[in-house]
Amino acid sequence: MSGKIKSAYRTSISFYDEVLCGRTWRSKCYLSIFWGGINDIDIAERLLQKIPKNFNGKLLDVPVGTGIFTADTYAHLKDATITGIDYSSEMLEKCENLMSSRGVSIELLQGDVGALPFADEDFDILLSMNGFHVFPDKQKAYDECHRVLKQGGLFLGCFFIRNELKISDCLVKNVLTKKGWFTPPFESKETLQNRLKKRYDLLWFRVDGAIASFLCRKK
Ligand SMILES: C[S@@+](CC[C@H](N)C(=O)[O-])C[C@H]1O[C@@H](n2cnc3c(N)ncnc32)[C@H](O)[C@@H]1O
Repeated sequence: MSGKIKSAYRTSISFYDEVLCGRTWRSKCYLSIFWGGINDIDIAERLLQKIPKNFNGKLLDVPVGTGIFTADTYAHLKDATITGIDYSSEMLEKCENLMSSRGVSIELLQGDVGALPFADEDFDILLSMNGFHVFPDKQKAYDECHRVLKQGGLFLGCFFIRNELKISDCLVKNVLTKKGWFTPPFESKETLQNRLKKRYDLLWFRVDGAIASFLCRKK
């Protein structure tokens, strides 16, 4: 499974940023037809605004990907200690280039969200954008994110949920999962909210198209 995911993201490296950001007419059509016209940049910005402007603690970003949505935010977090983890060395290489072009100080590590190389309660903020619909072992991923986050720390993220848009469900099932870009099982709005509420205080939750965004605090 991990080989399939790594290979999927290796092949997407040349078009990942372009598609998610809707930079060409083809990607605009794709987002409009299959994803209800969502704007991933807006979704990311709304979420990243939840990080305090003067944040000076430790932030873990998993999966960090190419950093396309986060580089500008991180460039302003001069006093924060930021670590990014991803399975894919190709995504990390692209991220490294982007972050250094923006003057961002970030430690980038290749690794698995299901086996994070950190002590318990190491981080003040855990950010996970567009990761949980990809991670092969969701329970391990949730457990690890919870373990490395301090009590009272913030867990925020966004990812695909099922049952919101039929066309997105269909694309995910018939194409994206088969290619290795997505990995079932997928959360619904209800299962995700219930899961988060068990271990966190849910502070904010929003759905755009078939993408759920959330902010919660570890109990
Ligand atoms: C859709 S991208 C999201 C990247 C970035 N957060 C964003 O929003 O653009 C999903 C990423 O998850 C990474 N990934 C998949 N499984 C992983 C795992 N078990 N541990 C760490 N990263 C993983 C992939 O390599 C890929 O870069």
